[in-house]
Amino acid sequence: MAEFTLPKNSRINPGKHFKAEGAKKPRTFRIYRWSPDDGENPRMDSYEVDLASCGPMVLDALLKIKNEIDPTLTLRRSCREGICGSCAMNIDGTNTLACTRAIEDCRGGEVAIYPLPHMPVVKDLVPDLTHFYAQFASIKPWLRTQSPAPSDAERLQSPEERKKLDGLYECILCACCSTSCPSYWWNGDKYLGPAILLQAYRWIADSRDEDTGSRLDDLEDPFKLYRCHTIMNCTRTCPKGLNPAKAIAEIKKLIVERHSA
Ligand code: SF4
Ligand code: F3S
Ligand code: FES
Repeated sequence: MAEFTLPKNSRINPGKHFKAEGAKKPRTFRIYRWSPDDGENPRMDSYEVDLASCGPMVLDALLKIKNEIDPTLTLRRSCREGICGSCAMNIDGTNTLACTRAIEDCRGGEVAIYPLPHMPVVKDLVPDLTHFYAQFASIKPWLRTQSPAPSDAERLQSPEERKKLDGLYECILCACCSTSCPSYWWNGDKYLGPAILLQAYRWIADSRDEDTGSRLDDLEDPFKLYRCHTIMNCTRTCPKGLNPAKAIAEIKKLIVERHSA
């Protein structure tokens, strides 16, 4: 039987434990730690946090740890209200946003927190999204038109046309969906993944865009699009309640329709 083991420098070691002396309502957070600077293996540090003096969200606990217990903990965050996407991480087994995930909604016991899966790690909870953003740029995510812009008004849409963008424009590019997709784990160099495909469909579905044909030409590729095997992790995990799997299915449908037209 084949045996798969992690390379030695990838094995996660047990880390330090930080106790919250005299805490009224202690809860333990086990957090992935890795630094490119010390040559050490990754480790899981655990921190007791007194929830009696902590805000309700996982991000509140992480900031309390950073501010009061261990300033070396590295994470990304900005808006703290589910808009910027920068605090995406794997919390309690699910990719989600630390700022909108309530601590009390995590399962009982210790709360395990890792960076987004299958991405290179910059440090601790910060994944390297360089390739993800390059893939986003590759779909040319802006309105592409040939006709001259109206001189006296913006390009108009009917309410029905505008409605077709609902469920698409809300995407905050947090990468929770793409990093939950096994196809993206294995073929992320060439497969665009659910986040970028949802964004591609956002422009295909826009009645003002005049480049649909070339957008579909670009996507009609065994890797860029067709590595989606309808696994559905993307839709299950999206913290904004969006449905990237449906957007991918719509792109596939449009490609079939234009071949049979
Ligand atoms: Fe994040 Fe959802 Fe957009 Fe995916 S579809 S990038 S999970 S907001
Ligand atoms: Fe992946 Fe979602 Fe398709 S999890 S395989 S992108 S349906
Ligand atoms: Fe902006 Fe969480 S801090 S989405």
